[in-house]
Amino acid sequence: MDKIIIEGGTPLAGAVTVSGAKNAALPILCSCLLTGGSHTLHNIPALRDIRTIQEILANLGVAFEVHEGVLTVNSDNLHGDTAPYQLVKTMRASVLVLGPLLSRLGKARISLPGGCAIGARPIDLHLKGLSAMGARISLEHGYVVASADKLRGADIFFDIPTVTGTENLMMAAVTAEGRTNLRNAAKEPEVVDLAAMLNGMGAHIEGAGTDTVTITGVKDLHPVTHTIIADRIEAGTFLTAAAITKGNVRIQGCRVDDLEAIIEKLLDTGMEIRREGADLVAQGNDSIKSVDIKTMPFPGFPTDMQAQFMALMCIADGWSMIRETIFENRFMHVSELQRMGADIEINGGQALVRGKGKLSGAPVMATDLRASACLVLAGLAAEGRTEITRVYHLDRGYQDLDGKLASLGSKIWREQY
Ligand code: EPZ
Repeated sequence: MDKIIIEGGTPLAGAVTVSGAKNAALPILCSCLLTGGSHTLHNIPALRDIRTIQEILANLGVAFEVHEGVLTVNSDNLHGDTAPYQLVKTMRASVLVLGPLLSRLGKARISLPGGCAIGARPIDLHLKGLSAMGARISLEHGYVVASADKLRGADIFFDIPTVTGTENLMMAAVTAEGRTNLRNAAKEPEVVDLAAMLNGMGAHIEGAGTDTVTITGVKDLHPVTHTIIADRIEAGTFLTAAAITKGNVRIQGCRVDDLEAIIEKLLDTGMEIRREGADLVAQGNDSIKSVDIKTMPFPGFPTDMQAQFMALMCIADGWSMIRETIFENRFMHVSELQRMGADIEINGGQALVRGKGKLSGAPVMATDLRASACLVLAGLAAEGRTEITRVYHLDRGYQDLDGKLASLGSKIWREQY
């Protein structure tokens, strides 16, 4: 296994380009199940989670070809309907094959994802919506077994604006009979990117990005060429890296409008961020102000940036209250930060960070994807050496983060252990 080693204290300097968004690429790859023929996808990031979903899709009969970074996806020979436990348990986003399989084949057998480090991660809202569309759903030996002669449009209200729930139901509804209204839908940019891909395939989706998405079923879909949007969480991670190292970084290829809440909070800490087209020029500040955050559905401050922001608050000059409202257990990074000298007190979904202006390097362990990014950022700022084990968590969602940071001047490298 790999570990990442960081000698902290070097201010970042230089330019880095943001990769394609993991959380857009995953549903978009699953949407290729909806029709035969060859889709052409640009800007797919090279990540472990992408390889996992490709393995699940290949297991169903989907064929992939890569040529000069462009991915061709063909599901003419779709022959399976099962997403197996040994793959699904490693990535709960695998549930995104459920809607398209039901739509294309009228049946699907998906292992229940099970929990993960950050919470129970139920899929009850996915299943409730599919049942409303006429799917027959049973739970058998740890699998969701679903079937439908023909899905029909329905009025569906999400009591929580679930991102993959919105995406699953959108994909189920595109060729259903009649109209489907998804209310209290998730508004994340990745949902909008999926809707753009589906409309490119001939679907009729209106309102993506608002809390009411209307899908009018169509008879046929066709393959399409699509470019995945830039990853807003990777961009936010690099903005935070500039702040925590008090460096100067040009982050290229951002979708700045997706970053408003992140930029707002980082500006409040005293850093400077200048927009130049799709680039953001970020200049860290010697003194870092403590700022409170509360994670919220888009366009609020994203839960996927909470851990990274907490690392920054550890070296700020006061107290910061961090409230996590989306997941019930997304503070796994706290005990590792405390090993680095952070002063953090957890009380339910709130963490009080008493900024101490510095951190000290230490051996730490990654527990989940964004906790890994948090520990990398903390290591960049810490005095001395930080060693991070279990970095396979990091590789799930960041394309060569350590390589990109090294290109910005960080003393960061990998070793086997
Ligand atoms: C997506 O997960 C993202 N993953 C997550 O990113 C992200 O943290 C999350 O949205 C919130 O923004 C992908 O897009 C692949 P939810 P998802 O359904 O869809 C509850 C990362 O680091 N809920 O929006 O699984 C749920 O427990 C990952 O890139 C139900 O109760 O999240 C949570 O409390 C981590 N029942 C809340 O809703 C359901 O049926 C939001 O979850 C579905 C969700």
